[in-house]
Formats: sequence, structure tokens, C-alpha cells
Amino acid sequence: MRWIIDTDAGVDDAIAIGMACAHARGAAHTLLALTTVAGNVSLEKVNVNVGAVLDVFESDVLFFSGCAAPLVAPPQRAEDFHGADGLGDAGLSRTARRPQPEHAALALARLAERYAGEVGIITIGPLTNLALACHLSPRLPQHVRRLVVMGGAWQGFGNQTPAAEFNIAADPEAARIVFEHFDHIILLPWETALEQMMPFETLEHIAAQATPRARFFAAMTRVANTWRERLGWQGVPLPDPMAVAVALNPELIAASFFARVLVDLSGDVARGFTAMDRRTAHPNAQVVTLVNAPLAWQMIRDAWH
Ligand code: BDR
Ligand code: CA
Repeated sequence: MRWIIDTDAGVDDAIAIGMACAHARGAAHTLLALTTVAGNVSLEKVNVNVGAVLDVFESDVLFFSGCAAPLVAPPQRAEDFHGADGLGDAGLSRTARRPQPEHAALALARLAERYAGEVGIITIGPLTNLALACHLSPRLPQHVRRLVVMGGAWQGFGNQTPAAEFNIAADPEAARIVFEHFDHIILLPWETALEQMMPFETLEHIAAQATPRARFFAAMTRVANTWRERLGWQGVPLPDPMAVAVALNPELIAASFFARVLVDLSGDVARGFTAMDRRTAHPNAQVVTLVNAPLAWQMIRDAWH
């Protein structure tokens, strides 16, 4: 499978991209490209962060810059969480790399057509680029063999609003388009990461290694201490790395159900809420509720040592 990761990098995005750089290098999986979208931080910052992660992994994977704003909604950021620069304000956000001239949505459509039937997409940011690509290329869903989406809240326990998870809340119209176009999504919702956090000891173990990658990891994850203090978390939720882990190894899915995921677009408290219709005969997603977390942490350890 040739994977494209669409990202709003972000600390956990950076960990996830590193995992893909390290693990998608064999006959079974390769990393075809990265596409970027505004979300956790501005598009400009996301592009720098993606370049910085590719630098530390010495990867030659190309990246394409995408949408700087949601389709309809006003922009929302998560800088209080990921740091003003998106990588924990640890001085890591610098690179000489630049994105390719082609827009991310066009690149998604082109690459999916070029590698039809063997391309997989992992979205770990707002769904703006993919929604646009669906409209640019109506056959896109048929070309994509697997779509893994980190987003939504299967128990209705949001993080951006009481009802909505960030990647959906940041661009609900785009999410609606994507969930209406694809019928074979693997969905990694917020609560799955929240209920299986990476223990701080594991984080510290990776951070203690004396390699350039581990030093990068240590610096960007220092911000997790503020999450511990502010939110009382006993570990670190890593939704984007979990999405990459199940994409590369679906056997890590320990529990799931099939549902038709519907995105609420009302302007009130439920905007961005992902209703999970399990009564349907026409599911569009396999919703992952439990992951083999120790194996996912092992993949992170192996990538970032
Ligand atoms: C999602 O929002 C972002 O802050 C994270 O990177 C992840 O993609 C979790 O709600
Ligand atoms: Ca993200």
C-alpha cells in the first residue's frame, strides 16, 4: 500500500509522521507523500513542522501544501495544546525544505488516480483537503483502497467542544463531504486515544535515548507536562500515531463496530458532533474503540529511538 498522510502538524502528528517514515519502507507499505492543512497551527507553520520532521528522519518524501482555511467555518487553532509553533515551542520549527508547487488537494486527486487501487490515505488533521479533492475528482473514493481518519467522538465526548472532536470541529462541512463520499473508512475517534494513553514512563524512556530523533522527541513532548498539570492526565493521548499504527497494521484493532457516521452541521452545541448510526445497513466506517496499545507504543519506540 502507498500511503499519503494529510496532516496539521502538531506534536502527535509529528510523532505519527516519524512512525510512517520509519515503518512504511518495505514491500507492503511505502510513504508516498504528505499533504498539509491548517488546523492545530497555521498552514505556514504546519509546512515548516512537516519539513522539520522529514529532516530529522532524513526522508526524501515530498510534501504538498494545502488549504489555509476551512471550507466554510472560521479557523480554529490548538496552539494552547501544541504550542504557538505547533511543536511544543522547543525551537524545533525550522527547515530549509519547501512544499511542492502543486496544491495538496490536486496532489491527492492525481496520486490517487495514478496509483488507483493501491493508495491509502491517513488524515490526521481537518478534512479540508480531502473534501476538496473529492469535489475535484469524483472518482477519488473508488481509487483509494483504504482511508483512515483520525477524528470524531464515538461516545460524544468531544475535546474541542463538549460534543465535537477537533479535526471534525475545525471543518465540519469538509468532514460531512468526506463521510458522504467514502463508505470504507477506518475511524480512530478521540476517546479511543483518551482511554488508552501512553504512560509517561514510556514517553520518558524514548526521550532519554541519545539520538537526534529521540532528542527531537524529547523536546517536542516536553509540552505534555502542561497537559498533565492542566488536565490531570496520567499519560499522553496519541490519536494521530494510533491512526498510523492501525493503518500500517490493522491487526492492532482490538475492538470496533461498523456504523454510518453522520456529521452535524447545525450552528448550535452539536456542530461537528459525529453521530454513529449502528442501525444502518449501509455503514461508511469501521469505528475503532480499542487498540493494542503496547504494540502501538512499540512502533513509536522503534521509530523514534
Ligand atoms: C486531533 O486534534 C489535534 O490537536 C491532534 O493532532 C489530533 O489530530 C485530536 O482531537
Ligand atoms: Ca493532527
